[in-house]
Amino acid sequence: MKRSILGGLIATLATAVFAASPALAQQELKMAYALSKDSHYGAGAAAFIESLGDSNENFVIEEFPNSALGGEREVIEGLQLGTVDVALVSTGATLNFVPETGVFDVPFLFRDLDHARGVLDSEIGEEMLAEFPKHGLTALAWGEQGFRHLTNSKRAVETPEDIKGLKIRITENPIHLKAFRELGVQASPMAWPEVATALQQGAIDGQENPLSVIVSAKLWQLQDHLSLTGHVYAPALILVSPMVYDSLSDEEKEQFQAAGKAAALAMRDYVDTVEKDGIETLKENGMQVNEVDYAAFEAAVEPVYADYYSQFGEELIESIRDAQ
Ligand code: PAF
Repeated sequence: MKRSILGGLIATLATAVFAASPALAQQELKMAYALSKDSHYGAGAAAFIESLGDSNENFVIEEFPNSALGGEREVIEGLQLGTVDVALVSTGATLNFVPETGVFDVPFLFRDLDHARGVLDSEIGEEMLAEFPKHGLTALAWGEQGFRHLTNSKRAVETPEDIKGLKIRITENPIHLKAFRELGVQASPMAWPEVATALQQGAIDGQENPLSVIVSAKLWQLQDHLSLTGHVYAPALILVSPMVYDSLSDEEKEQFQAAGKAAALAMRDYVDTVEKDGIETLKENGMQVNEVDYAAFEAAVEPVYADYYSQFGEELIESIRDAQ
């Protein structure tokens, strides 16, 4: 009898200790992104999960790749509402929530990846991240997609004349829209999850995205021509829902910040690799790739700069453009 009372006590104690163990205190977080696990977003997600897992085992991250939780606009709304916990998204989407980030979407602003990374890592980039909490979001770090290029199935585009009249899907981004309209494109702002069907059905002739997206989404299955327009740099962001972030201890916030930085670096590494071998992959899969008259495209959108100056300030735009 005594034995069984003792046994019961031990069992109760063991249950109490077990219940207090970290394994049962784990918090599950939903992480959303638009592309596959093989993409730069997938690489960023894996680095985030590894970094956070190394420093804190109380968080379990469940990935929702391939727009499984909706388009980027819906995902950002989800972060504000607390139905999505972590997300990797493009500035094409954040611009509608944090208008200041739109300055990085100005076409022909950055010379190359080093220039863009330098600006995003500088005070300008840091100040922009600090804008997010004012709009019900938390931004951990600047990730990256690379420079956007044009794909289409009608013709090789080499000059601004060639692009006129093409029906091109663009992101839901008014900064890009202005530039494409100036080029005489029939630009259709559209959420990414609708793009494949629109291309298949011929509702649009093409789209524009960086090599990271064109390669990882296997766009050669839907598009014949890639024109290396490099018309705009596409940053990405690692965002957390304030519902999660504001509930963290200071130590946990640092762990999330570190995970965000690890994700950003992994995305940049992916972009560096795809910049080296992506074009070869696309050619091997039958895409026709051509260079363009970059200076002619740059000159063709120059008139829109007056609008960008009035929206973001000439001083800011020129200081980004001139940054070394
Ligand atoms: O084109 C877009 O909408 C974005 O670049 C994408 C593919 C969703 C990645 O953020």
